[in-house]
Amino acid sequence: MNKVRKAIIPAAGLGTRFLPATKAMPKEMLPIIDKPTIQYIVEEAVESGIEDIIIVTGKGKRAIEDHFDHAFELETTLAEKGKLKLLEEVRRSSKVEIHYIRQKEPKGLGHAVWCARRFIGDEPFAVLLGDDIVRSEVPCLRQLIHQYELTASPIIGVQPVSDLETQRYGIVDPAGKEGRMYKVANFVEKPALGTAPSNLAIMGRYVLTPEIFKFLELQEEGVGGEIQLTDAIARLNEVKQAYAYHFSGMRYDVGEKLGFILTTLDFALQSDELRKPLLEAMERIMQSEYMTRVIG
Ligand code: UTP
Repeated sequence: MNKVRKAIIPAAGLGTRFLPATKAMPKEMLPIIDKPTIQYIVEEAVESGIEDIIIVTGKGKRAIEDHFDHAFELETTLAEKGKLKLLEEVRRSSKVEIHYIRQKEPKGLGHAVWCARRFIGDEPFAVLLGDDIVRSEVPCLRQLIHQYELTASPIIGVQPVSDLETQRYGIVDPAGKEGRMYKVANFVEKPALGTAPSNLAIMGRYVLTPEIFKFLELQEEGVGGEIQLTDAIARLNEVKQAYAYHFSGMRYDVGEKLGFILTTLDFALQSDELRKPLLEAMERIMQSEYMTRVIG
């Protein structure tokens, strides 16, 4: 069985939920405190044993390439000023070898993955989406790769969501369960409220096999007129059994505003530097909210 060595990080979406911030800046560069979301994703891939990463970019995404490149002037200045901790942080992001390819038009996630087909060739590979950051003891992608090594089958990372949330996700229709692994009967992209076959939502982590490109090649449009990765995995599942794996860890949705704010708060609460002043500030805010509501 081939090892999973390569990963695709699609980052060519328009990021409309964060406009106007994303008019000239990639959504993937929005920071959770002081680190761009895409760096969390790259670090997870590396910690999971991935050797080669390709980021699918689009118009206005240059900042991503600059971020992962060497910053000679900045590094020299930091070294001269003796700011060694910052220097180490800045260098950390340029240590990984990353390749780039452009998706010329944002035709959907499936199309973005298809754009990287030549880079992948005939090997199993991972896909990581920047909208989901996962904090876990064993990196999320590492957990999925482990399941792939046991089954040689496509593995889709899932976590349960509430009945009201299923309409926002790709949902798995499970055919059987063993521990945290579900045999998949079918996938449904963003089912209408009350029609979801389960609460198992696809969470932006996949290990796929190269046969998927045959189905992406067909360029069939799905929900929203986009070429959907979920649809191609559903087609693949007809010829090669796919599994959904309920990974362990805390998953943060940074692809929409409230999730982004809550992630920032949670990460700040886990920081030695920020926890105390943040709690004090929050207490003051809650107090004045209470006063306004109760006393007027
Ligand atoms: P999203 O649905 O989150 O789209 O795509 P988006 O454009 O980034 O954000 P909104 O919904 O407009 O706010 C999920 C992932 O697929 C990538 C995105 O960059 C994101 O990582 N994607 C989506 C592409 O690379 N190309 C596309 O054509 C669409």
